[in-house]
Amino acid sequence: MAADRRGKAATLALRRRLLSSSCRLFFPEDPIKIVRGQGQYMYDEQGAEYIDCINNVAHVGHCHPLVVQAAHEQNQVLNTNSRYLHDNIVDYAQRLSETLPEKLCVFYFLNSGSEANDLALRLARQYTGHWDVVVLDHAYHGHLSSLIDISPYKFRGLDGQKEWVHVAPLPDTYRGPYREDHPNPAVAYASEVKRVVSSVQEKGRKVSDLCPLTQFGGSPVSCAVGLAVLDVLEKEQLQAHAACVGSFLMELLGQQKAKHPIIGDIRGVGLFVGVDLIKDKATRTPATEEADYLVSRLKENYILLSTDGPGRNVLKFKPPMCFSLDNAQHVVAKLDAILTDMEEKMRSCETLRLQPEAALLSPPLGECALLLVLGDPELGSLPSAGSFVPQQAKPFVCKHFVLSDDPFPQSSFNT
Ligand SMILES: Cc1ncc(COP(=O)(O)O)c(C=O)c1O
Repeated sequence: MAADRRGKAATLALRRRLLSSSCRLFFPEDPIKIVRGQGQYMYDEQGAEYIDCINNVAHVGHCHPLVVQAAHEQNQVLNTNSRYLHDNIVDYAQRLSETLPEKLCVFYFLNSGSEANDLALRLARQYTGHWDVVVLDHAYHGHLSSLIDISPYKFRGLDGQKEWVHVAPLPDTYRGPYREDHPNPAVAYASEVKRVVSSVQEKGRKVSDLCPLTQFGGSPVSCAVGLAVLDVLEKEQLQAHAACVGSFLMELLGQQKAKHPIIGDIRGVGLFVGVDLIKDKATRTPATEEADYLVSRLKENYILLSTDGPGRNVLKFKPPMCFSLDNAQHVVAKLDAILTDMEEKMRSCETLRLQPEAALLSPPLGECALLLVLGDPELGSLPSAGSFVPQQAKPFVCKHFVLSDDPFPQSSFNT
């Protein structure tokens, strides 16, 4: 079957008609149609190559030939549930146990993180006889109802907090109550959890322990795939590779932090790296719109990246583990160019902001005029030079400034 059977617009129209709108697209204003993946790259229907910094689920790289072969070979022989004896499931459990601490030696394979966490919750409740749970603020544990109840990231926007759910602060050493200048933030955050537990107990309630379990359904095919993934991890030494490329990436990003004040913090382990963007150093206010803008400009440069964090201001790198030193260098060079461009625009807007109104009307208004429409000229309030137009905003005309017919060209703030 051809990968691209219909044009992108037709696919989008069908998707809008047939799929729930809550199943969101990346880059909703201009979604990408991906037809092929290989290693750390994804390809659209026109053949354009994107570097994938989002997809850590394709752990050892998209469509790794050994993983594809293992799935294909096992699919030709048998795929069924885990209720029969089969060597793949015990081989996979054994291989996994060799990578884990000794105590973690009993497995229950499931299809998703959500199912695993739901089972963990049931096990903890069954074992302890207690119902209440303590979770970290902003945490996400999955999309089942049982997990939405214990995920502040989700329940805050839905039904709210249940009386049996207790929230401890996120151990955030950049913006949280205990920061980098604290002598022992780990102990301080752990004490917060103890404090929450004590206050729950004082109310006569009892708390369950919760720990996450492993994923996959345990079928012969999924276990064959799991075994192939472990083989590739070992053969290509991907853990050592990720540690090496990850520290190089952090070092390059560190150089950017020294150059661009919008970068407040860089943190991560291996190839899971966050770049925390701020509006100003003193308040550490999340630079949410700027992060959105950067992500859309990176996409124009064929780099796929997403944001995360309570303020949606953290650029989140989590590429497949085969992401290379060259990829790191390329992505950071593009990030640098976009940030430099942003800063120049902000500087010229700052100059415009100080001019009388007539100067604002005279060309070149250019892209930075977009910043001005967010303010209310009638009241004389203009946004700070640090404000960017959110992607959803479509202001074409404002009372005092008529912008060009197309104020949102590809390179402008609003993509
Ligand atoms: C921390 C965490 N827990 C649970 C889940 C849910 O996993 P799944 O999407 O496989 O159900 C996710 C998925 O993104 C996750 O990031």
